[in-house]
Amino acid sequence: MTGQFRIEALAPEHDRAAFACGSDPLDKYLREQASQDMRRRTSACYVAIDEATNAIAGYYTLAAGSVPLTDLSEAMAKKLPQYPLVPVARIGRLAVSVAFQKRRLGAALLWDAGLRAMQPGMGVFALVVDAKGKTAAAFYEHHGFVSFSSNPLTYVLPIATLAKKN
Ligand SMILES: CC(C)(COP(=O)(O)OP(=O)(O)OC[C@H]1O[C@@H](n2cnc3c(N)ncnc32)[C@H](O)[C@@H]1OP(=O)(O)O)[C@@H](O)C(=O)NCCC(=O)NCCS
Repeated sequence: MTGQFRIEALAPEHDRAAFACGSDPLDKYLREQASQDMRRRTSACYVAIDEATNAIAGYYTLAAGSVPLTDLSEAMAKKLPQYPLVPVARIGRLAVSVAFQKRRLGAALLWDAGLRAMQPGMGVFALVVDAKGKTAAAFYEHHGFVSFSSNPLTYVLPIATLAKKN
């Protein structure tokens, strides 16, 4: 990513109506639901703002969650306490506006989510994401996420792996 974007929490002054990423449900979520979820504290939404125009160039949502230990690979599970559920940070949605795609903004949003999940106060062992389709799945696989045994469209990336990469 170049220095042309800043990433910040979604706020009323951001123009959500103009956002178009090529997926109607993802556009609609930002327009109609994201602020409400933030108010209810069920998930946080972060937006990348194009410094030149103040347009929303991309966004992601992040929420606390947990996954069954038995859904993880043996290699991953053996490094964790043997509780039935283990804590994760869940990326509910991640999207880049068509006008800003293929400029490494998706990767930058993913990294920003990872940095937030890595904060010592968070106490999560991994980022988890539910890919909304094959394109999204390929994007997450490209970034090192591996799919769950019980649900092939749910992907996990341990924070330790992410930290090593950067
Ligand atoms: C998928 C999406 C987030 C990618 O964003 P982007 O800003 O265009 O991607 P980037 O430029 O950051 O790509 C970074 C890297 O990922 C790769 N990549 C991007 N999209 C990819 C895909 N669908 N499959 C595989 N790799 C992909 C790029 O080739 C690049 O690789 P490199 O680091 O080796 O050069 C974006 O196209 C989008 O929002 N699509 C519509 C909504 C959607 O499907 N969201 C998915 C999550 S629910």
